[in-house]
This record gives sequence, structure tokens and C-alpha cells, in this order.
Amino acid sequence: MSKKTILNIKESKNVKKLTMITAYDATSARIVEKAGIDMILVGDSLGMTMQGKNDTNGVTMDDMIYHAKIVCNNAPETFVVVDMPFMSYEICEAQALENAGRIFRETGARAVKLEGGENVLPQIKALVNAGIPVMGHLGLTPQRAAMLGGFKAQAKTAEGANKLADEAFMLQDAGCFAIVLEAVPYKVAEALSKRLSIPTIGIGAGNGCDGQVLVFHDMLGFSDFTPRFAKRYAELGDLAVKAVQEYIQEVETSAFPESEKHGFTISDKEWDNFYWSKME
Ligand code: KIV
Repeated sequence: MSKKTILNIKESKNVKKLTMITAYDATSARIVEKAGIDMILVGDSLGMTMQGKNDTNGVTMDDMIYHAKIVCNNAPETFVVVDMPFMSYEICEAQALENAGRIFRETGARAVKLEGGENVLPQIKALVNAGIPVMGHLGLTPQRAAMLGGFKAQAKTAEGANKLADEAFMLQDAGCFAIVLEAVPYKVAEALSKRLSIPTIGIGAGNGCDGQVLVFHDMLGFSDFTPRFAKRYAELGDLAVKAVQEYIQEVETSAFPESEKHGFTISDKEWDNFYWSKME
């Protein structure tokens, strides 16, 4: 398998559904690459999954760079997209360029993702002009959860759906190579996906999108709370708790470790010369 380019991703539209999962560390990066995922997202959801916070707003550029470097090093054959964190691009084009440039140069990622529509068009155009591929993100934009009144589905009114559609076309015209649609009615996402020429990547946006993205911890059952749109493909969190409980029980009852099986030996000669070998 060789690393995809934005051309391969664009060409997948109407040919093959695109798959994307978040990864934040060496273990998750290796697992998803081994499974054959099309794209990895180093999402700012790491604020929740890795840092245990309630939202993504506290995540910094340094956090993103730290995790993105690890992911890129451990999934060298996969197309990696990195989220631009809250307040790393909103101020002006120069700020967006400086921070996206850092992500691009320092991590090895092949694209950045940023949230928003009309309000961030100048930034998207500036990045694309500078040669940095941009994935857009519309609908529920978690960095703006405070303004949206929480993590709520969007575009549920005709007015909201029309605005979403207008902004999706603005993002496409600005040069985005794909757009994440998060928590929007599936009929709206499907209609948009049919009309846009770039792929839509859905999360809580139904089956009519050109691809899907899920958060690693949600799909594997590591999260305590699972959003309505996330399917849990495994319950690894429960499995991990059971495994740790078994370990505790085996250590407390001296069942683990089995010295011969898990330990190392010393030859009789060396043992005989050891000070305390006679002191049993
Ligand atoms: O940060 C993230 O993981 C995301 C996905 C939910 C799309 O933006």
C-alpha cells in the first residue's frame, strides 16, 4: 500500500467510499494503518480522548504537532490530515499560514483540516495558494460548540440547510479537496454530496456521503460516552478493565508472574558465587 495523494482522494468520488479514522499516538496509528484505512485524522478530539477534557478548545498548536509527528512516524504509508486547533487560524490569513506551515513542515502530514465556512474563506484560500491542502469541516463544528449551544446537530431547518449548502460550495471553490460534514440531516448531506465535485466525509451525516470518519476511541469502545452517530465496533474499554482486574488479582494471589515462564535464569555456577545463595 502506498500513501494516497489529494488527487487519489478526489478521484475516489463516485468510485469508492473513503475511510478515515482518528489516531493520536503510535499504537492507534499502527493499528489503523495495518487495517488499511485510506486517511488518518489527527483530530483535536485528542483534547477529549487523550487529555480527558470536556471539549476541544484547550488544545494547542504544540499539542497537535506533538501527536501529529508521532502518528506520521508510525503510519508512514497513510495520508494524514491534522486539525488546526481553536484560535490557530481564526485571527487572519497570516496566522493560519504560519500555523498550517508549522504543521506541514514539522509533522510530515499531507493536509490540514479547519472548521468553518464563510468566516474562514480567506484563510482557506491563503493556505491553498501557499500549497497546503485543506479539508473543510461544516455542520457541527466542535470548536464553536459554545456558540452553537452545545454539541448539537446542525442544518435541521431549511435556512440552516441552505446556509450549509452555500458554504460547502464556497469551500469547494476556495480549493478544499474534501469536506467533513458533521451531525447534519442525512438527506441534506446526501443532496450536497451528489452536487459537490469534491468528496464529503460524513460523521453523523448518513450513508449518502462519499466517505466516513469515526473517532478511534468511540468505535473501539474506549469512550464512556458514545455520540449517537458513532458505532462501537468493539468493547475494548471493558476488555481492558477486565484484563487489569485479572492482573491485580493474579499479583495479589502470587499467580503472576510464573518465574520460569516470565523470568530469567542464572547458571548454577554463577548462582553459587553469588553472596546470598547460601543464605536461604
Ligand atoms: O477532531 C476530530 O476528531 C474531528 C472528527 C470528529 C471529524 O474533527
